[in-house]
Amino acid sequence: MVGATVFSAAIVAAAQVVFATPVARPGYSLKDSHNVPRGWTKVARAPADHVLDLQIGLKQSNFDELEKQLYEVSDPASAKYGQHLSADEVEELVKPTKETSDLVHQWLGDHGIVPESYSAARDWITVSLPIGEIEKLLGTEYHVFEHKDGSKVARAPEWSLPNHLHAHIDTIQPTNSFFRARKQASQAFVDTGIFSDPSLKSLKQYPTNSDIGAVCNTSSVTPQCFETLYKTKGYKLRATSKNKVAFTNYLGEHPIRTDGELFLEKFRPEAVSVARTFPQLTLADGPGDEPLSGSESKEANLDFQAIAGINPKTPIISYSTGGSPPFIPSKSTPDNSNEPYLVWVNWLLAQKSIPQVISTSYADDEQTVPVSYARRVCQQFAQVGARGTSLLFASGDSGVGSYGDCVSNDGNNTDKFLPEFPPSCPYVTAVGATKNFEPEVVAYRPAFVGPDGVAHGNYTSGGGFSNIFDIPKYQKKEVTSYVKNLGGEYDGWYNKKGRAYPDIASQGLYFAYFWNGTEGVISGTSASTPLTSGILGLVNDALLASGKPSLGFLNPWLYSVGYKGLNDIIEGSAVGCGVDGFPAVKGWDPVTGLGTPDFPKLVKLAGGKL
Ligand SMILES: *[C@@H]1O[C@H](CO)[C@@H](O)[C@H](O)[C@H]1NC(C)=O
Ligand SMILES: *[C@@H]1O[C@H](CO)[C@@H](O)[C@H](O)[C@H]1NC(C)=O
Ligand SMILES: *[C@@H]1O[C@H](CO)[C@@H](O)[C@H](O)[C@H]1NC(C)=O
Ligand SMILES: *[C@@H]1O[C@H](CO)[C@@H](O)[C@H](O)[C@H]1NC(C)=O
Repeated sequence: MVGATVFSAAIVAAAQVVFATPVARPGYSLKDSHNVPRGWTKVARAPADHVLDLQIGLKQSNFDELEKQLYEVSDPASAKYGQHLSADEVEELVKPTKETSDLVHQWLGDHGIVPESYSAARDWITVSLPIGEIEKLLGTEYHVFEHKDGSKVARAPEWSLPNHLHAHIDTIQPTNSFFRARKQASQAFVDTGIFSDPSLKSLKQYPTNSDIGAVCNTSSVTPQCFETLYKTKGYKLRATSKNKVAFTNYLGEHPIRTDGELFLEKFRPEAVSVARTFPQLTLADGPGDEPLSGSESKEANLDFQAIAGINPKTPIISYSTGGSPPFIPSKSTPDNSNEPYLVWVNWLLAQKSIPQVISTSYADDEQTVPVSYARRVCQQFAQVGARGTSLLFASGDSGVGSYGDCVSNDGNNTDKFLPEFPPSCPYVTAVGATKNFEPEVVAYRPAFVGPDGVAHGNYTSGGGFSNIFDIPKYQKKEVTSYVKNLGGEYDGWYNKKGRAYPDIASQGLYFAYFWNGTEGVISGTSASTPLTSGILGLVNDALLASGKPSLGFLNPWLYSVGYKGLNDIIEGSAVGCGVDGFPAVKGWDPVTGLGTPDFPKLVKLAGGKL
């Protein structure tokens, strides 16, 4: 039950709002401000000589038309369904007007600033500048902020622009965004600690369907289980020369080839060479193709192995983008301070040919992102969708919100559920997690302490309603009806008019995987997202083999047609914030979306042949 008491600890612990000191400049006025999110503390003035790569987001000339065309090519009821746009067509719609471009260049030129680089559509300009100069340019002051996890960033919660530029610039970062990439696989084990997980005892260990029972084991779920459960087993690939599945890595993560080999030797011996040869691309000084160093890359290993386990023969691509903390105040070389999604998506949009499915298992609380910046990053994702690519994002591992953190960021510390971004962006497909087999239910694993004394946190499939993006047309009926049936429960804790997620789900508890040469298990919507991506890669194979276009941006199709090819999940809830959270119900729900894949049905509904 929702009660005032469950949040009291969080309110006491809430960080005070930090008010920045805007620096008055003639002809300037405040362009944007964002409260410093909980967990961050202002520690000092930022060093004036510290160099930032500043990204200037110019107003796009015709995003409304781009959005209209995105929906046309993604909606099976439209005559233009499947007629995805080329890179040039997308760029033509989003490039800034000549007036916008001229005014911004003139302003930069007046300050003696030469742009460092541009996005393909020239809707983003990057300039490299010391903080002292940025402060003059934006009439602001930068401070160093420290997160409770120890990482530091230089940020300016409020910034200004000359009045005549307000209508021509949407956002400039890094200024007031505290958005970071957070891994959604927090539950990694390489030991046998999980077998003491008390919740395993209550799982249905002995399914009734003998095919599934023979290969599915709740304490270590394998590719042989997934292919049986989701019925991809026996599918013969026919379009591997035209099809690709990719995944993104941040925070210094990159897949370790030797672990991938061990995984494939055990589960896909016919495809071991894939682990040795799949391309690992690096952007913005991201980590290269190296052996394991340190304790990271569990997430990257999981992403590669989840895709390769279900779909080893469709070419797989890995992108590792740098630009993450730590912030080093003494450093005077450019620091592209953790705005990694933007760096990655703008690089991707500059490629003429891009993979048909891309999986991302990183997100952050939506309220760490200024509205203006969330909108622009989301608009970049819309451009990827218009080109015929499905972007999948993990829905988060904390149900309706991480216990103890569930308050608003408006300075009032009101009790609130915590939606996550990018899954809250309406132009991407958010993936939730399930566990068990007959039936599958919401993935939920309460915190416990293993026999080795290691504490394992709460984990639940994430879901919720955006406070930034309005409910899109494609899900309006389902979401409105869900909210109505809640009968007022959790009123005031979420935005009934917001884009709701996830859209789809798949298994996400105790995946078998290899890391540092050892087999273990790992959980999270981080597992569900690459697994679902691998399955959609198989659906695309069937479509491309029949001369049809790829699925592209999925949601309009999923909510109108594709849902008939999904197994509805009706048990469990998005436990979090100290409450049970949104329940899974018949039809769509904000825990498992429309359900888990039934591959043969999805192929037929999409118009492909098995
Ligand atoms: C399930 O997997 C665990 C770990 O691999 C193993 O110890 C257990 O015996 C398996 N159970 C069954 C019924 O196969
Ligand atoms: C990796 O495994 C080796 C033993 O095989 C161990 O010595 C090393 O500490 C492990 N590395 C990490 C980061 O756990
Ligand atoms: C929250 O506080 C702000 C001032 O910081 C105030 O303007 C606003 O009305 C408050 N919002 C709510 C929902 O109470
Ligand atoms: C898990 O959630 C419960 C409330 O549902 C809370 O009491 C507990 O402290 C949480 N555990 C951890 C480790 O966060």
